[in-house]
Amino acid sequence: MQDAQRHMGVITARAQMVTFTRALITETDMIRPDLFKTVMRKHAASVVLISLGVNGRMHFMTATSFTPVSLEPPLVLFCLHRNGDTHDFVRVGSTVGINLLSQDQEALSRRFASKGPERYEVSDLHLVPSPDGVPLLSKACASMEVKLNEKHKAGDHSIFVGQITWAAAQSEASPLLYHSGRYTSIAGVATERTLCSEASSR
Ligand SMILES: Cc1cc2nc3c(=O)[nH]c(=O)nc-3n(C[C@H](O)[C@H](O)[C@H](O)COP(=O)(O)O)c2cc1C
Repeated sequence: MQDAQRHMGVITARAQMVTFTRALITETDMIRPDLFKTVMRKHAASVVLISLGVNGRMHFMTATSFTPVSLEPPLVLFCLHRNGDTHDFVRVGSTVGINLLSQDQEALSRRFASKGPERYEVSDLHLVPSPDGVPLLSKACASMEVKLNEKHKAGDHSIFVGQITWAAAQSEASPLLYHSGRYTSIAGVATERTLCSEASSR
């Protein structure tokens, strides 16, 4: 316990320390949602748009739950909230696009995380069809066509696993990241690190 507390020495407020320590030692209890969110804010993730055709129109949704899974075969996963529209649209056996957004595409991430009508006004997007016909963003950092072959219930989300059937990446593009409740980029992280080290050397 004392070792764990020393390890978490960066947490200075006593109330936070108590919360953190309880989380470390309480293995059988479910942690509270606010602690889950506090911990997950430390998790940096690439922002993707999941894209698909639904009843003759294009549907896009912002997600950070994308994870590469396997090289052979080339598998990836993403998680969808079970109450979301996208969860209803995505089916095992169907094909979706996964577009890793570039650092200059934050507006697209905000737009496709909203519930407004702008979700379906997509004429301004630069799209190309994948070989199987799903819409892909031509200016994304990287894009994949993914054939979904597994769905697993996981709490309030479902995990979808699929095989990449086509992929492309832009050699010069840098990804959009989401961390600590805000958008950033690899350049942004590097700048913050430089500012921190400059401040500490003063
Ligand atoms: C940065 C960011 C990441 C998100 N990641 C996910 C995710 O991985 N899975 C999910 O279900 N919702 C995620 N969301 C929330 C959805 O984008 C949002 O609830 C959207 O309106 C759902 O649309 P739908 O109802 O069409 O499914 C994320 C939102 C943001 C801003």
